[in-house]
Amino acid sequence: MCGIIGIIGKQDVTQHLVDGLKRLEYRGYDSAGVATLINGAIERRRAEGKLENLVRALEAKPLAGDVGIGHTRWATHGIPNEANAHPHATAKVAVVHNGIIENFQELKAELTAKGHVFASDTDTEAVVHLITAYMDEGLSPKDAVAASLKRFDGAFALAIIFAGHHDLMIGARRGSPLAVGLGDGEMFLGSDAIALSRLTNRVMYLEDGDWAVLDKSGVEVFTEAGEAVERPVRISDFSDAAVGKGGYAHFMLKEIYEQPQVIGDTLTGFINPALRTITLPDLPFDLSTVTRLTLIACGTSFYACQVARYWIEKLARIPVEIDVASEFRYRDAPMVAGGAALFVSQSGETADTLAALRHAKAHGQHILSVVNVAQSTIARESDATFLTYAGPEVGVASTKAFTTQLVVLACFAIALGRAKGAIDHEREAQLVEALVEVPARASEVLNHDGRLKELAHEVAKARDVLYLGRGTNYPIAMEGALKLKEITYIHAEGYAAGEMKHGPIALIDKNVPVIVIAPTDELFEKTASNMQEVIARGGRVIFLSDVPGAAKLGNLAAATIALPQVDPFVAPILYAIPVQLLAYHTACIKGTDVDQPRNLAKSVTVE
Ligand code: G6P
Repeated sequence: MCGIIGIIGKQDVTQHLVDGLKRLEYRGYDSAGVATLINGAIERRRAEGKLENLVRALEAKPLAGDVGIGHTRWATHGIPNEANAHPHATAKVAVVHNGIIENFQELKAELTAKGHVFASDTDTEAVVHLITAYMDEGLSPKDAVAASLKRFDGAFALAIIFAGHHDLMIGARRGSPLAVGLGDGEMFLGSDAIALSRLTNRVMYLEDGDWAVLDKSGVEVFTEAGEAVERPVRISDFSDAAVGKGGYAHFMLKEIYEQPQVIGDTLTGFINPALRTITLPDLPFDLSTVTRLTLIACGTSFYACQVARYWIEKLARIPVEIDVASEFRYRDAPMVAGGAALFVSQSGETADTLAALRHAKAHGQHILSVVNVAQSTIARESDATFLTYAGPEVGVASTKAFTTQLVVLACFAIALGRAKGAIDHEREAQLVEALVEVPARASEVLNHDGRLKELAHEVAKARDVLYLGRGTNYPIAMEGALKLKEITYIHAEGYAAGEMKHGPIALIDKNVPVIVIAPTDELFEKTASNMQEVIARGGRVIFLSDVPGAAKLGNLAAATIALPQVDPFVAPILYAIPVQLLAYHTACIKGTDVDQPRNLAKSVTVE
């Protein structure tokens, strides 16, 4: 959350900064700003709201300069207005920041007592004034930053420029991600490789605690302890095409439609189709020794864990505990020796998930992760990582990352079942065959887009919407409700269908659409009874089932979508797609900002 970029260039950098910020807007869009040096002096342009407001400000008052920094903000401390917009600056120093400086109040009090005047309500301004104070004492920019970094508590990724120093930029990270881009006679900093994708494909990922001193010709990296260190340069594979909308109206729609392809790409990494087996990457411990598993994540990734719990308990016969990261890390859960914890995160940078990972590691757990960004911090700090091949996901509401997470978790559940001796080869082969079919079936599901768009008109009129499901489709009900809340701002709840009679049934009337997710599996009849209970109370049901389910009960519902019939094992992967499309079209009808819904950010790097 919050995106940062910095460039020491050969010519004016402002346009490149703005281009980079466009790619980072998914990290927050409460305000945006840039700062450059003009004849050695710091100049800034900042604007409240989305990047387009900054673009207008720059059109009205252009900004030159061959070194500069830029920021797109997700507000934490201080309301989203221009005064709180980054970069923050004194006459000597300008800073962009992602993260939270937790001891900023103490630093602010100390600096105010020394005569520093603060112009914003942000924690970040303490960074600027502290570095300035050290420079006032005679320290060089580099020494002033080194001294300041020792005094910050909390999380940060920083990019810093200094008045009078056209060939210097300093970056630092603790907690929040930061990458260095290497150009030819120019150097870059960015929150991620996507931000730098138009500028360079040579990227160096800083490790936690690192700070980096850049000039036009290169970079020197130091550890938190101040020792010079080399970090590998990697070739980033983010092409411009991968981060464009490709002719779709929104990133979200493009990403929904990419699912057959990326599910197939992800499966290829785990399946041996000839042998009909699953192959996991090498693990530094024996899976068969795992007696208990903890699954941790946030947001949509947490719902993927919820589906995985059903799969793993059924196939591997070991107890699975799941929790949202922000709760797990503080509830002092007992962890068994030799246990394993698996962390699921699209970005691989979510602050709560990362903190929970470190907590589990400190308690001796084997650490596994499922991430979409191979170079992310969560991947780097895991004993083994299983990658989703979703490609860059830009829409704030997660879609293709979720279904590819499910695919990886399904493969993991099968491999664990085999390692534990709980399933035989024949069962493994059946499950693999079911997975191999998913890309083709996902394409068929997309054929229902037109009908879902029609149904969205009804949903758009509702104030509340209920989603019901059982078994592995209960988390899909919750994910469907989350998608709707995130992008349409309609209140929605996902409930275990059997639990409806213990409360939510009181909400049912003709104005509350009820989305029932019920493939024909062993729980179908039970969910069908719950659907009857809704209909008996005047509720209007949108029934998501398969061809046999629709034939049996479709006439009862106000509307029915008959998806292809698949092995119930893979059904949650497919049923995720219609709830995504329903939310998407409802948002379009309501005219909300689909890709950048209010108050949200895609990568949440604050706790
Ligand atoms: C944010 C995003 C969600 C995402 C969650 C976890 O809330 O808006 O789409 O599911 O973070 O993110 P992660 O990158 O850890 O999967």
